[in-house]
Amino acid sequence: MRLLIDTDTASDDAVALMMALRDPDVTVEAITLVAGNVPLDRCVQNALYVAELCGYDGPVIAGADAPLMRELGTATEVHGEDGMGDIGLPLTGRTPAAGWGPQAIVDLVRANPGELTLVTLGPLTNLAIALLWAPDIVDLIPRVVCMAGTGLNGPGNVSPSAEFNVWVDPEACRVVLRSGLPLEFVGWDISISSAVVTPERAASIRALDTPFAHLALDVQAVLEVYADTETELDGPDLPDPIAMAHVLDPSAATVKRVHVDVAIGPDPMRGALIVDRYGFTGGTPNLDIVTDYPEDRFFELLAERLG
Ligand code: RIB
Ligand code: CA
Repeated sequence: MRLLIDTDTASDDAVALMMALRDPDVTVEAITLVAGNVPLDRCVQNALYVAELCGYDGPVIAGADAPLMRELGTATEVHGEDGMGDIGLPLTGRTPAAGWGPQAIVDLVRANPGELTLVTLGPLTNLAIALLWAPDIVDLIPRVVCMAGTGLNGPGNVSPSAEFNVWVDPEACRVVLRSGLPLEFVGWDISISSAVVTPERAASIRALDTPFAHLALDVQAVLEVYADTETELDGPDLPDPIAMAHVLDPSAATVKRVHVDVAIGPDPMRGALIVDRYGFTGGTPNLDIVTDYPEDRFFELLAERLG
């Protein structure tokens, strides 16, 4: 499996990156960065830190530093100021590859038609720019998996109806939804139902006793508090890692093909997915939305790659 990973690297993205980078059956062709959880330069440094830990020497390339048409909204209250739990990791001084994220996506897809799976773990700004500039890529990408949205009818995590990646850049999400790409969305509903690192799950991961397992838990320090005080979860949840699990093993998922649009405009509807479950709009179904991913299978895939 050959992957292109677009990410706003913070605490959960970092775990998803390690899952891909440590999978012997996966080749990561490039990691492109997009502003989201933290400003772009921090995403870049965080991704470079994880890449170095995993011995990855492929291209890590900066992309869009802001949404298409809005000011950047970050999530430092969720992931920490540095995005990696504010635990004092040495997250500076590394150098990304030359180039620009959207162009790297276009160039690699055109050079490898039909070969690459695109995984997005952050706002869809880079992918939208790539699509607007080079619409031909729609027919060259056989699979696109996005950690995006609230699933069929899950709660928002940044507003009552919106999930963060879509909320940051709803215009970019609409470009992607209307592109014709073969889309699969893994929503935050799947994260809170099947990817919560309870104390028991954390103990199992810690017992793996590898640098990857320890980092995966340590960088959740801020998210752990946020989950306890804000999202009422029994531990930090891992949306990007369970989206990566679906990339690696889609056979475990239950999906439903539906027509989806996105609300453009001000809060509280900004970034809300309009999931036409029963076909009221007559819109052509444009994505497979994951409606279930087994918790045990997720943690099995996670442990195999952190061990
Ligand atoms: O809503 C969760 C998503 O927003 C995850 O990708 C997390 O990393 C943040 O980007
Ligand atoms: Ca992310």
